Amino acid sequence: MGETTYALGHSSAEIERLKNQAAMLRPITERLLRSAGIDAGVRVLDLGCGAGDVSMLAAELVGPAGIVVGIDRSQEVLNVARKRTQEARLRQISFVHASVEEFSAGEPFDLVIGRYILVHQPEPVALLRKAAHLVRPGGALAFHEVRMGSITKSFPYVPLWDLTTDLVRIALQSSVPNYDGADRLGGHFSEAGLPYPHLFCEELVGGSADSPLYGSLAELLQTLKPQLERMRIMPAETIAMDGLESRLRDAVIKARSQIYGPAQVCAWARL
Ligand SMILES: C[S@@+](CC[C@H](N)C(=O)[O-])C[C@H]1O[C@@H](n2cnc3c(N)ncnc32)[C@H](O)[C@@H]1O
Repeated sequence: MGETTYALGHSSAEIERLKNQAAMLRPITERLLRSAGIDAGVRVLDLGCGAGDVSMLAAELVGPAGIVVGIDRSQEVLNVARKRTQEARLRQISFVHASVEEFSAGEPFDLVIGRYILVHQPEPVALLRKAAHLVRPGGALAFHEVRMGSITKSFPYVPLWDLTTDLVRIALQSSVPNYDGADRLGGHFSEAGLPYPHLFCEELVGGSADSPLYGSLAELLQTLKPQLERMRIMPAETIAMDGLESRLRDAVIKARSQIYGPAQVCAWARL
């Protein structure tokens, strides 16, 4: 089960970053799941479930009568997901160590979902076709993706914020196989022979002292540091990495700035 095409890796710091990120994304993913018809008793498949956040959200929405299966090709991250699910006593969830490409199920699902997975696919259309085979007729397929090119901007301008977002964007652009996949969801669905999806987009915005955006950006730059170094860009020469989160917070608050995180694009279609 090759994991070489997954740019962000699965270090414990990266797994922690995924969990923090999930708290910010939860309301947007919940809107997507509700739009796609999630309800009590529904059978859900979560593609590329990572540390299990989307699976756990889905499990709460389907309740004890529903079923959620999370699949991921990383055993490491599944161990974390299993532990968290047991702690939360969500017995309706199970996890399978499998790539989407090789996964098969005895019975199709009412809803197949994926968050932040299509951007990581060298062949997103093939993955969509495979995902569609796992949905029952009349069921739905739903994806929540990040618009990586939009990770930017502070108003008024805070140089440290914009410089950090620029470095993150450069690293992602050079390492994520379907970097602009969030902007191509409609095209990907059409190319896979699926109905054109319903689309919506939400943007993360903040500026208060307790905004999670500072930590999220600082952690992402830390994760991507090795990629930048491979490109001979040394973030530590431009930005001191130690205490970056609090320096971002201080700079933004001092400027009374409003900062934007990456736009979130969601797509779903009934099959
Ligand atoms: C950015 S993480 C997102 C995790 C989770 N969906 C979330 O939103 O918190 C992407 C996950 O998808 C998994 N993944 C990527 N491509 C996959 C594939 N083709 N089959 C199975 N898992 C895959 C990776 O191992 C990784 O855990």
